[in-house]
Order: sequence, then C-alpha cells, then structure tokens
Amino acid sequence: MKKLMTDHRHKFGDFEVIEFVDEGEIKRLRDQINVDAPLDLHWTWEYGQEVEELRNLYEKGKVNQWNAESDLDWEAPVSKDEWVLAPDASMIAQMVKLMGGDEATQKAAAFDELNYTLSQLLHGEQAALELCGQLTNACTKMDEKLYAASQVTDEARHIEALAKFMQRKMGTIYPIGATLKVLLDELLQAPDAETKTLGMQCLFEGTAVGIFEMLRDSSDNALFVDMIRRVEQDEARHAAFGVLCMRRVVRDAEPEQMEKMEDFAFSIMEALNANQQLDMLHVLGPKYGLDPHNVVRIATALPNFADFNSLMFMHTVIPNLKALGLITERTEEGWRSAGMMTDRRKTLAELRAEAAQGMGPFGAN
Ligand SMILES: [Fe+2]
Ligand SMILES: [Fe+2]
Repeated sequence: MKKLMTDHRHKFGDFEVIEFVDEGEIKRLRDQINVDAPLDLHWTWEYGQEVEELRNLYEKGKVNQWNAESDLDWEAPVSKDEWVLAPDASMIAQMVKLMGGDEATQKAAAFDELNYTLSQLLHGEQAALELCGQLTNACTKMDEKLYAASQVTDEARHIEALAKFMQRKMGTIYPIGATLKVLLDELLQAPDAETKTLGMQCLFEGTAVGIFEMLRDSSDNALFVDMIRRVEQDEARHAAFGVLCMRRVVRDAEPEQMEKMEDFAFSIMEALNANQQLDMLHVLGPKYGLDPHNVVRIATALPNFADFNSLMFMHTVIPNLKALGLITERTEEGWRSAGMMTDRRKTLAELRAEAAQGMGPFGAN
C-alpha cells in the first residue's frame, strides 16, 4: 500500500512516525495558499427528489441550524486557571505532572494543548468548507448538491464559532501543522467527487466526530461544552452524508476501484496517525521542557497504546469503513499495527478507570 510523505518517516522502535523538522519547509507548506484543484462541474435537470435519504438529511440539516453568535453564551468565562480540558485528556499536562510540574503549570499546558487542537480543527473546518463548495459543483444529483450546499453553511458556522472561541477566550490561533496541510491539500486536489467524499466526509468528518466527543467528555467549561456539542451534532450529519453517498458508490464499484478506495482511506488515515502529535509537540514541547521525541517514544511503546490511540478512529471512521467494505483482510492488519484499530472500542470511562489503577496511558505516575 502506498505510504504518503515517505521522506518524512523514521522509526521509534516498531512505530513509524511522520515528522517535519525543517522550518523553511513548514513555512513553504503554510504559505502555499493557492491550490490547483481540477474539478468537473455537472449540471442536472432533475429537480425532483431522487435520493430520498439524502433529501431527509437535508431537511434535518435545515431544522437543526443554529447561530454561533446568538445561541452561545459568550459571556461565560474561560480561563487558564481552570481545567478547561481534564488533566488526563492532555498529553502535555500529563508529562508536566510526571516531571513534577505544579498544578498551575499543568493547567496552562492543558489550556495550550486544547488551543492547539482547536486551531487544527479550525483549519480542518476551512478545508471542509472549501471541499463542500467543490461538491456542490462536482456531484451529479440535485439532492447531493442541495445537501452539500447546506453543509457549506454548517462549516461556515463552525469556522465562526471556533475562531471566535479562540479569539475571544483563548487569545491565539496556532498555524496549521505540516502533516495536516499536506493531507487536506490531497483531498482538495483529489480529481473526483467520490475520492473527495470518501476523504473529507468519511475520513476527516468521522475522525472529527471522535475528537469532538473526547473533548466534550473531558471539559467542564459550559461554553466550550455547549459549542462542541452543537458542532458535533452537525458533524455527525456530515459523516452520515459521506456514508450514504459512499454506499451507492461501493454498490456500483468494480473490485479494482474498491481496492483503490480502500488503499486511499488507509494511506490518508495512516499518515495522520503517524504524526502522533509531533507537529504540536514541536510547537508546545519546548515551552514545557519536553522533548517531542521522548513523549512520542513513551506513548507509542506503552502496552495499551492502541486502546487510547484508537479512540478517535474506532468511534466512527473504522465502523463506517468496515460497513462500506473498505477495510478488508488485505488492509486490516495495517490498521491494527498502527494502533488505530482494536477488537472493541474502550470508553473513556474505562480507560480512566484503568489509569486510576496505574494501567492507563500515563498510569505509571
Ligand atoms: Fe465542521
Ligand atoms: Fe463537517
């Protein structure tokens, strides 16, 4: 199977990571804001309802619109003095604690890590906005176009909400990580609607739902939880659109096309996972006296690495790909050995109980 970014890979024990260290290259990737995206536009003269399930989803989307400015309580406080993200949900806060850092430093670390993660989600939202705009052109059926158009509005709202949250409550928006930029460009430049739908709607939307749920479960901040809950509801609809579209694609696909899609899904997700937050650790690690390599070495060598690493993938992406027939015996071992797939998804509560007994990701402390 094709692996992406091969010249940025090296091994930590058995685990192969993707890492960008050349600041000039990272800057070049970020500065590349004009992207050639070849696109076939399709008219349709069928205005009646053709795909009932898509029309239903479109109707659901209309009913569930919300206003990021007026439906959220922007007066609610967010502060570095609170655990805006639970200590066990922040890799850096855990490491700071292991090294004997005080609680204030751990809280600040959790705050910064959340800020970084939200920034990456924000850049992902922009890619979703661009990509759905493309889908309104590239899809062939009116029900797909209508749905994609409604998703454009959703993504605009997500950008608004996340950007305002960071501007008003956190003070910073971190630049996009190099690995993420490469992968999002890959989707935006994909030549056909099927690959775009698979890439954005199934892979990235599915992963986002998993991440949003973890964040929501790990915060007590009222404004943050309310915002994430609303965004997550929209994203679940987007992931459903991906599955409904892809179900029709795989039904008609030749074995060769199935293999191609299966490989594409693996290569994108494997690369995202292979970064293991190194892009983040290079930015925030030094501030807290952490060596990015050490952190990733420790995490990937833990006996239960796959249990927590697979959380965001086992939530939506992997079940959906399995159901679509896009994870088969041919690729399953790859997903497993990368720590993205387990027999059963453990809940956050289960992982927390294990950690309390000294078995968790950082349970040794
Ligand atoms: Fe979104
Ligand atoms: Fe979305």
